[in-house]
Amino acid sequence: MITRAKPFCCAALLSVLLPAAHAQTTVTVQAGAPGKAISADLVGIFFEDLSYAADGGLYAELIQNRSFDYSSADHQDWTSLTAWQLVQRDDGRGSVTVETARPLNAQNPGYAVLVVEAAGHGVGLLNEGFDGIAVNAGDTYHLSLFARQLVGTAAPIIVRLESKTGAPLAEDILHPPTGAWEKFTATLRPATTDADARLVVLATGAGRLALDMVSLFPEKTFRNRPNGLRADLAQVIADLKPKFMRFPGGCLVHGDGLDNIYHWKDTIGPVEQRKGQPNIWRYHQTAGLGYFEYFQFCEDIGAKPLPVVAAGVCCQNSNYLVTKKYGVGQEGLPMEKMPAYVQDVLDLIEFANGPVASTWGARRAAAGHPEPFGLHYLGVGNEDKITPVFEERFRLINDAVKAKHPEIVVIGTVGPNPQGEDYEKGWKFANELRLPIVDEHGYKSPQWFWDNLRRYDAYDRTKSQVYLGEWAAHDNKRRTTLRAALAEAAFLTSLERNGDIVRMASYAPLLAKRGHTHWEPNLIYFTNTEIFRTIGYHVQQLFSVNNGDTYLATTVSPSAAPGRFAASSVHDSKTGDLILKFVNGDDTARSLHIELAGAKNLPATAMKTVLAGSDASMTDAQSVRPQSSSMPIASAFDYEAPANSLTVIRVKLR
Ligand code: AHR
Repeated sequence: MITRAKPFCCAALLSVLLPAAHAQTTVTVQAGAPGKAISADLVGIFFEDLSYAADGGLYAELIQNRSFDYSSADHQDWTSLTAWQLVQRDDGRGSVTVETARPLNAQNPGYAVLVVEAAGHGVGLLNEGFDGIAVNAGDTYHLSLFARQLVGTAAPIIVRLESKTGAPLAEDILHPPTGAWEKFTATLRPATTDADARLVVLATGAGRLALDMVSLFPEKTFRNRPNGLRADLAQVIADLKPKFMRFPGGCLVHGDGLDNIYHWKDTIGPVEQRKGQPNIWRYHQTAGLGYFEYFQFCEDIGAKPLPVVAAGVCCQNSNYLVTKKYGVGQEGLPMEKMPAYVQDVLDLIEFANGPVASTWGARRAAAGHPEPFGLHYLGVGNEDKITPVFEERFRLINDAVKAKHPEIVVIGTVGPNPQGEDYEKGWKFANELRLPIVDEHGYKSPQWFWDNLRRYDAYDRTKSQVYLGEWAAHDNKRRTTLRAALAEAAFLTSLERNGDIVRMASYAPLLAKRGHTHWEPNLIYFTNTEIFRTIGYHVQQLFSVNNGDTYLATTVSPSAAPGRFAASSVHDSKTGDLILKFVNGDDTARSLHIELAGAKNLPATAMKTVLAGSDASMTDAQSVRPQSSSMPIASAFDYEAPANSLTVIRVKLR
């Protein structure tokens, strides 16, 4: 409240117009007391193939619609030839159709047939990639395709990388195909860098040539994995040092209708035998980035895998395009299909952890990973409407997993919002089943997060623990702002304080490709050649790399400190470090007096990292980046937390 001085003078006028500077705030950390054990897995990631996160994004495949299976079921404007063009070079004449009569296999129905009337200088197909194909001079690209000569004399096939204007960048020649499907491979090394190249496949003989699974991968994938991930994007994710990764969704998991539920078994094995399907976000998912690749990526980045399976029901918003109604589309798998579905879930656990001699452990070994993946967590359901249909199916899955795999921690779901009907019903159901963990979601305003810093203080410690599986502060609809990121930072301090009940948290969504963004905001944006870390990315990273396993009681006085301020302190037993975090969400600097009560073996200096901006409405477009420097410390010291800032002080105890 502003009190007006009398007589009204300039100073008083200024105090009305300018935000008042706060009196000093004292933060006392019980650094010598044992503290409270908290989750060491608090900050992780949630990956969903949304906004081209997988196909066209993290999955390094450069060819779009490689198996000619796009259709209007994926996107209203798409056909089986989307992203492809017929090319007729010089006096070449021909046409292209997509057929399904003699496919490569039943999972992969469509294939292109080039009808070559006159070969000329080649009749073929050009693929434009996902917004072009970005290639680097001197790098190696592995091409593969399946071909079959249906009619006519077999002739070599030319494969070529070209610029958008047709200038050749690299070329190879495949030997003539036979009358049976055969896999061909080639290596292309472009002489020049081109962010917008094309792949051209040319038949050189008259007749009918069938083509399928035309694929192009950079050799340099993340950790050089075949069928791997885009190295730069995977590295930016790895740099978050996530403690776990939830995958593959989201709404993608429970799907748009029962036919669209994600089935993990369709996503393993040779890529040409995987079953692509419409993505609930209105594009196509190839399943090239499938369950094996997800588990492997988790292992590569040191994140515990947290797969989510549908709870035997589809999304309650299914069929929205027809009904134009939210919340009325949930359907359950027919009960007679549930035993097979439950078995699929048990098989998933065997795929991840079973011995090589087991059926599904053998499949994992065949994919190149005989050792188990160490699956510990399993999510069942995503934001489902809590109905009898859901409960009946969830119970079947949960009972079966508990009976056969008591070592697996099942994570339930409590609806799409952090309050309301499904939240209440979901918690009641979780309590009834005594679930170890439930998945809460919350996309809210920055103010909501500031207002709810005490939310988990009141949670009953005898009930399920919490996984905050999807959350983000929504401020500016198009991108994250500093205001939103600081609200997230403040909330993260409350999650640390409650790390005995909040086991894990993952911001959502993780990735979005510019030009194909179905949801805003996201943590990381990208194009084919660039990656943009948001301010929120830096917040998540700062909490993830500065995590601890013990929370040290941290008090702020005066307790009703005005304005927006939050603090937390943790101890990390691995490094022995004491880590302090201060969030100042105000537009003015805040003067802090910090007391490290009972601290022993303090060094003279600590490492300070500050993420700050002059204005809370600053967006990702402006540069708000963490800056690190050394600072003097003592058992009591003063620090001025800049306006709109997160400060992390890392103290290496001697
Ligand atoms: O993160 C985006 C979407 O938000 C998820 O798919 C869904 O679970 C939630 O509604």
